[in-house]
Amino acid sequence: MELEDSIFNALHMYTKVLSVALGYRDLLTRLHSERVQGICREIGMRCGLSNNELNALHIASSFHDIGKIGIPDHILQKPAQFDDGEWETMRRHAEIGEKIMAATELRGSQQAAQVIRHHHEHYNGQGYPDGLSGEDIPICARIISVADSYDAMAVTRSYHHARRHPEIMAVLHQETGEKHDPEIMAFFSEIIESSQYKANRA
Ligand SMILES: [Fe+2]
Repeated sequence: MELEDSIFNALHMYTKVLSVALGYRDLLTRLHSERVQGICREIGMRCGLSNNELNALHIASSFHDIGKIGIPDHILQKPAQFDDGEWETMRRHAEIGEKIMAATELRGSQQAAQVIRHHHEHYNGQGYPDGLSGEDIPICARIISVADSYDAMAVTRSYHHARRHPEIMAVLHQETGEKHDPEIMAFFSEIIESSQYKANRA
């Protein structure tokens, strides 16, 4: 997918308000989304994406979790692991996010909506919501998946502690080929070492 600069600017202005709104519901998710966007940009540049593709990646990565606006507080803010029913509800954020992005009806928003829908698909087809696999998953969604997983493990949440960089990389490598695209993981492994988003840099 690609977005020309003029369309990117319009879509970005239009959707920025949504991330501010999400920040009032769930500040941690907003801050996570900003870091994921930054990591995605570094991966996208290393992958050799064009300017217009980077624009599309920026929009989709910034708003990948915007659907959490539609998840009830008792689940969104739950300070413990989810049960099966709660997971099912939480998984709906991908489709809710797709609908929110598509509702802007701006040119390019349908493609961004598809990336948001598919950001939890797994390379081996075991993800959600559609069980897409391999290159059937939009490349921007495959990039978001790696960045999202890294940052989720790098920060402390109410139900888990922050992990250190080597530990996170070990988990990601273990998941490569199953959850993550091997080619994108290879690019990510290169850029993260000198990235400002590397965990526990101190
Ligand atoms: Fe998500």
